[in-house]
Amino acid sequence: MARHLITSAIPYINGIKHLGNLVGSQLPADLYARYLRGRGHEVMFICATDEHGTPAELAAAKAGKPVAAYCAEMHDVQAAIAGGFRLSFDHFGRSSSPQNRALTQHFAKALADQGLIREVTEKQMYSVTDGRFLPDRYIEGTCPNCGFDSARGDQCDNCTKQLDPVDLINPRSVISGSTDLEMRETKHLFLRQSAMKDKLAAWIDSKTDWPVLSTSIAKKWLFDGEGLQDRGITRDLSWGVPAQFPGAPWAGMEGKVFYVWFDAPIEYIAGTQEWAEKTGGDWARWWRLDQGAGDVTYTQFMGKDNVPFHTLSFPSTILGSAEPWKLVDYIKSFNYLNYDGGQFSTSRGRGVFMDQALGILPSDYWRWWLLSHAPESADAEFTWENFQASVNKDLADVLGNLVSRVTKFCNSKFGPEMPAAVAMTERETALMAQFRDGLAAYEKAMDEIHVRRAAEELRGLWVLGNEYLQAAAPWSVVKTDEAAARGIIAFALHLIRLYAVLSRPFIPDAAQAIMTALNCDDWSWPEDLDAALTVLPAGHAFAVPENLFRKITDEEREDWAKRFAGRRE
Ligand code: 2FM
Ligand code: ZN
Repeated sequence: MARHLITSAIPYINGIKHLGNLVGSQLPADLYARYLRGRGHEVMFICATDEHGTPAELAAAKAGKPVAAYCAEMHDVQAAIAGGFRLSFDHFGRSSSPQNRALTQHFAKALADQGLIREVTEKQMYSVTDGRFLPDRYIEGTCPNCGFDSARGDQCDNCTKQLDPVDLINPRSVISGSTDLEMRETKHLFLRQSAMKDKLAAWIDSKTDWPVLSTSIAKKWLFDGEGLQDRGITRDLSWGVPAQFPGAPWAGMEGKVFYVWFDAPIEYIAGTQEWAEKTGGDWARWWRLDQGAGDVTYTQFMGKDNVPFHTLSFPSTILGSAEPWKLVDYIKSFNYLNYDGGQFSTSRGRGVFMDQALGILPSDYWRWWLLSHAPESADAEFTWENFQASVNKDLADVLGNLVSRVTKFCNSKFGPEMPAAVAMTERETALMAQFRDGLAAYEKAMDEIHVRRAAEELRGLWVLGNEYLQAAAPWSVVKTDEAAARGIIAFALHLIRLYAVLSRPFIPDAAQAIMTALNCDDWSWPEDLDAALTVLPAGHAFAVPENLFRKITDEEREDWAKRFAGRRE
């Protein structure tokens, strides 16, 4: 049994996330967490809401609420929706927690103690119309790198380049749209990332098993142009972790807070501390190398736009502190999911958002489609046709139909209890050989976090069961050899239990429905496949489950395509 720490990029607090956000971090992280738990490992799975910075301030202002109240409310909304998608976090924290405030200030001080913070008096955009400095997201303009006309002050969404607001061409205030901007002096703290460059480069170089998407983005920002730049880690804002605090090794930072991207990843640790406070657990054995975290494997999940912050900025914080913190072992990053011929867009309200999705179908339908089409090697696209086809075929025709046929047939011919097993024929032995190979391939894909491939392998296992049933044809055999027909059904019912166990990381509700119907709570992973085929004794009572999955009709597909074509209200 190993120990696995898993974190998903923490979603911004401002509003409900769309399916593209979900499949880029939280959902695959949940898949992996569930898989590892299923195999008996000890897992700590942490996520949180990212509550600081301008996105929160802007959204609260738009909602006409004080920012703290807005965040508290939206945290609960996001937590409820995460529950609806069955995201199995051990803790869903808040980056505005007291733990994160203390830890963020601790890291800033530790970095200063190592000589890695410098104070910089710089000129910054001041909006005369708005009467305030405009940090990062309050400014939009044209990206100097790719020419995208709605690049934000902190990053270009189009080319992922990390930006400083002053880099933008034709900048404008997001608050008022005003272009009446001028440069005024203000003091900020900078993290000397450039001093960490060689260390970071060596570390990234050692990660030969990482997805190329993760390492290539890291290398780009390490070596392209002038190489890794120092980053301003404070902002002129009131909402956030105060940059001036008792014991701070600097003065004159009143009225400033740490940059949201400085404190957000620290929340992975602080969130574990929140978990510890809630449960009485020990957070340090997950995070402190001097307190047992040396044997933890730490995997992070995120969309590609988050990669620079996780491969360079956060490791600079961790390594730069010179304290024994656990560093990430594996970064699983994702490309983008597009929506029906365009992009999902929160600002433009385009696509299907998490609450809307749950309003039309249960979470397993979405989980299956999203994971089996995860944008791993390239961007992927959601279309309603594809969604309908995949749900109807994989879930309803293959898995759902198998479960239904086997349980219904048994119930009607032999009654609602497990028939006696008989010796395996060649057909079962052959099936088992194929199943064993398929299972090994499935486990390999899951171990390597190849999400799409894992879905394919799982689907392959479902198909094997269907083919077996079709070929064994117990409905014919029963006419001449009832004992043999009972044996086929006993075998098939065991296969169904295996499907519940193996499919649980993808479709936890359907897996539970199968197990409930089978009147079984033995979720043990089939480490020994032969033994797994004898778990349910003859005479064990079961029930015929409700249809596991229903089909999506053409009318529904057309209706949803229309309904989600426009702007979210
Ligand atoms: O892109 C985002 O949604 C960010 N809120 C992710 C932050 S991940 C981390 F650093 F905590
Ligand atoms: Zn750009």
